[in-house]
Amino acid sequence: MALRAGGLVAAAAVVALAFWAAGVPTADNPHAYMDSESRCTGCHRMEKDGSDWILDPHIFRSSVVAVCQGCHPPQRMGRSHPVGSDPLRALSLKQMPDGLPLQWVEGDSDGVMTCGTCHNPHVPRLGRQKLFSQQPPFPGRPGEYLTYFLRRRSQDPREGFTPLCKSCHPKL
Ligand code: HEC
Ligand code: HEC
Ligand code: HEC
Ligand code: HEC
Repeated sequence: MALRAGGLVAAAAVVALAFWAAGVPTADNPHAYMDSESRCTGCHRMEKDGSDWILDPHIFRSSVVAVCQGCHPPQRMGRSHPVGSDPLRALSLKQMPDGLPLQWVEGDSDGVMTCGTCHNPHVPRLGRQKLFSQQPPFPGRPGEYLTYFLRRRSQDPREGFTPLCKSCHPKL
């Protein structure tokens, strides 16, 4: 099955995914099952184009929030962030910051914020760069830090999560 995605970034992500060992969750990759080609359509919508299948990475078959909460129920999570509203409307933003995708739900004209707006569940769990200055390394892995699958907006750990937050809350 050939996979094609719209957009260059998306295409690069698909290529990277294809090289990952697919399927079995490990400490490095607890989301490994999401890398199996047979699973893509469980979340993403795919459309046939001739003999190719095209995957639109930002169109989902069901609620992203519900998929994530299947394994990360709110009662087991620490402090989180509200999801389900449209930032353009709720915060009167003129446009969405680049690279923070919303989900469009059938029958609704507004996109809504999901877990996938801030987290890309496909990126590596561990990285060489701290997210914030005081971040301890992952147990047993000196020099490696949890990425929290975050769509980080700065490579400078001294800024912490602030650049991500500020992209929607400029006054923060
Ligand atoms: C458990 C659900 C799930 C499965 C299974 C899954 N994805 Fe995703 N994928 C997501 C979510 C959630 C996002 C982040 C939200 C978004 O990008 O709109 C995402 C984002 C992406 C992106 C865009 C990444 C970016 O930079 O924003 C690509 C490309 C992608 N997925 C490809 C795939 C492919 C190929 C497969 C199968 C090998 C797959 N996905 C399987 C949930 C899933
Ligand atoms: C099949 C179960 C499963 C699904 C579905 C799932 N996750 Fe996870 N996720 C895990 C596991 C296992 C871990 C490793 C830490 C733990 O055990 O909680 C993890 C870790 C994480 C972490 C970081 C915490 C860490 O310790 O690295 C984030 C953030 C996260 N997931 C976000 C998401 C998002 C967003 C989605 C929906 C797109 C999602 N997950 C869907 C199983 C899942
Ligand atoms: C506004 C951005 C944002 C949204 C939306 C968001 N998160 Fe997070 N999430 C973060 C940040 C930042 C962290 C790391 C800092 C922290 O733990 O407070 C994090 C941490 C996590 C963790 C690891 C820590 C823990 O509490 O277990 C998990 C798992 C997680 N998020 C899952 C989710 C799920 C599931 C959703 C959707 C219901 C979601 N997140 C929505 C920004 C976000
Ligand atoms: C993609 C845009 C976006 C990003 C990024 C974002 N927020 Fe938000 N935030 C929103 C929206 C939209 C609301 C309003 C939600 C509602 O009222 O349903 C909100 C509401 C809040 C609230 C009020 C919470 C409440 O319960 O009413 C706080 C506090 C907050 N955000 C903090 C943060 C922090 C801290 C970060 C960085 C980790 C962050 N936000 C990143 C869009 C964003």
